[in-house]
Amino acid sequence: MSDLWISNLSEVATPLGTEALGGPAQAAVSRQHGVDIWCRNGEIAAVASPTEIAELASHSQQVERLDGGGGTLVPGFVDPHTHLPWAGSRESEFAQRLAGKSYQEIAAGGGGILSTVRATRQAEHSELVANVERRLDRMLAWGTTTVEAKSGYGLSLTDELKQLRALAEAAAGHPLEVVPTLLAAHETPPEHRGDPDAYIEIICRDIVPAVATAGLARYCDVFCEQGVFTPEQSRRVLEAGIEHGLEPRLHADEFVDSHGAELAAEVGALTADHLMAISPAGIEALAAGGVIAGLLPGTSFFLKKRDYAPARALIAAGIPVTLATDCNPGSSHTESLPMIFWLAVLNLDMSVDEALTAITLNAAASLGLADQIGTIEVGKQADFVLLEGDSFDHLAYHYGVHPVQAVVKGGVVAYRKAGGTGC
Ligand code: NIG
Ligand code: FE
Repeated sequence: MSDLWISNLSEVATPLGTEALGGPAQAAVSRQHGVDIWCRNGEIAAVASPTEIAELASHSQQVERLDGGGGTLVPGFVDPHTHLPWAGSRESEFAQRLAGKSYQEIAAGGGGILSTVRATRQAEHSELVANVERRLDRMLAWGTTTVEAKSGYGLSLTDELKQLRALAEAAAGHPLEVVPTLLAAHETPPEHRGDPDAYIEIICRDIVPAVATAGLARYCDVFCEQGVFTPEQSRRVLEAGIEHGLEPRLHADEFVDSHGAELAAEVGALTADHLMAISPAGIEALAAGGVIAGLLPGTSFFLKKRDYAPARALIAAGIPVTLATDCNPGSSHTESLPMIFWLAVLNLDMSVDEALTAITLNAAASLGLADQIGTIEVGKQADFVLLEGDSFDHLAYHYGVHPVQAVVKGGVVAYRKAGGTGC
């Protein structure tokens, strides 16, 4: 592969290190000026003055140039919580919600997750692959270079496997790196309605071992929430996952304090996500257990909630915070991490620098990848987003626009905005 030289940058903004940053350190973003970037074999080989990089380039056989156009370079965005392999759509439910029905009311009437389960069960493998590919294309165009993606709309052995296989096939042909998660415990399927324990038994006995043996997931997730799965049922699933080598992560305390945060700490989860209804005890448990807090402000926004997760209290407790799209057909239908970034700085009261760390280094850490991605440092994978504007502050300031000029994944330019990369 060619070496890559990125030049003509106004700012290179990045957190530093190989571990999640919590408390005041979450805002410790390095902003360098007057530097170019040199990549070799898909890794960052130098961050140095244009003169030094020109010297390296003079010894290279093959150099590809990316003109930064006076823009800002940041690490490739990492989206640590999404649901990608699904079929159908729920725009009529969305219209009902605009007319005043709540997400939970729609779900109680057989809509919500179960309506997507019906469509996903009916879909052919090829349709699911095409759906995932389309979503990955959009993510890449918005700057995402690594994404976690969950199953959870199959809710049977056959259909969870079908979703995860479609995800794997789409990922194999796409520049984005996809980290797969089994979310069989997303809801109780219609055939076990009224007996969630019977379904939990199937997950632990059949689905988790089959998915682990097939190598189709790295993580195991569960929707621990009042009216969905109790902490005890959730614990059984997460422990079955651990037994089969699938590390735990959780949907916790989204609508009601369901003690999901406490469970996350008990089972040693890497991350507990949502947390709109987390209690002070839950915050203490996350801090004591070293669990990352995954915030999904797209759900508050899209569900028309006035309440957002307590980002300031979580950061004050020293807990590293991530941000994710939660891309899904019901509660957050977006592939755009910049959209989530705008919500974080305006509605979660996070600073621009805290939010950058949340969608880069901390998100990488919540996927166990912080030694490889998430910062712009020599030795890390060459994943970058080239943004318009002469400082990273423009990403927050100019909202609603598409600010991504180019995206580099593993040292290769994977996306270039039509019309060039000028800013
Ligand atoms: O993360 N909260 C549970 N699961 C998804 C929503 C799924 C859906 O509505 O289809 C979420 O928000
Ligand atoms: Fe989710």
